[in-house]
Amino acid sequence: MQNIDITRRLRKLMPIAALLTGLIFAGVLPAQEKEKKQEPFGPELTAEGEKMSIGDRFHHETCATWGGAIGDMLRKKPEKPPQYKSYKDAKKIGLPEPNYSGMTVEEALKKRRSIRNYSTKPLTKKQLSQLLFAAQGVTGKMFGTALRTAPSAGALYPFEIYVVVNNVQDLPRGIYHYSVLDHAIELVKVGDFRDQITDAGMKQETLGKSGATFILSAIFDRVRYKYGERGMRFVYMEAGHISQNIYLQATSLGLGSVCAGAFLDEKVNKLIGVDGQKEAVIYLHPVGCL
Ligand SMILES: Cc1cc2nc3c(=O)[nH]c(=O)nc-3n(C[C@H](O)[C@H](O)[C@H](O)COP(=O)(O)O)c2cc1C
Repeated sequence: MQNIDITRRLRKLMPIAALLTGLIFAGVLPAQEKEKKQEPFGPELTAEGEKMSIGDRFHHETCATWGGAIGDMLRKKPEKPPQYKSYKDAKKIGLPEPNYSGMTVEEALKKRRSIRNYSTKPLTKKQLSQLLFAAQGVTGKMFGTALRTAPSAGALYPFEIYVVVNNVQDLPRGIYHYSVLDHAIELVKVGDFRDQITDAGMKQETLGKSGATFILSAIFDRVRYKYGERGMRFVYMEAGHISQNIYLQATSLGLGSVCAGAFLDEKVNKLIGVDGQKEAVIYLHPVGCL
């Protein structure tokens, strides 16, 4: 008897439920009801419904999903830029063989520290050679690609290494570019850039007082032509790999080094002559004698 009663009451309520559903779809319902229907992670909103910060958006919009991967495959990608950069008219200086063997990797890991004060003793060319090799030296070949000391997503190697030479034996002060294929450096600009690199590095004196300051600069489309926007994440990850190689090599050579992410982008980009869009500086790394 009671069951029949409940069924009757529910039947009476059905037109009201239908009306409410109609109102929801017609958008007459209060705003907060509509917000509840929104995806918690919309392209612009956080799980709390707040507007995403640029950092949140970068991470969120480069999250991989199977659906996203298919969408990414269909999206127009940039052209593949050349794999190697060279300064054809620049003076090229060969470097000594990078055949140093020092402490074990375990010792270097234990000893590695960020060091910001260096003596005035110059670095040797041999040390510079070893450090450049650690950063991006060629260690093998695969289908015509030069494999390096640091890993790279898809073996696409977005990084170019520049060096501000402040105090290296038998090497004029200036800005040099590392030519990976022949383990040589190309003189991009001759001159004393100690003040300019310090200024561009937000007055971090370590950048001008080093023997050499390494500049890690990325050509984004080398990765994006294949991996789309997610490739941007790979670029930053790779900077970390290269940086740690420089740290450990400097430690093993008995030198001091620190990575520096604090710098004025426009000034550092201008210093090495890159546009800051297709190619931009990601990291700085001074190295000096103790
Ligand atoms: C992404 C990143 C950016 C950094 N930027 C700077 C920097 O601009 N200047 C600096 O002196 N140290 C910088 N550091 C070094 C840290 O201060 C250092 O690693 C930290 O204090 C830990 O010390 P340790 O490296 O000796 O273990 C940076 C480190 C990282 C990982």
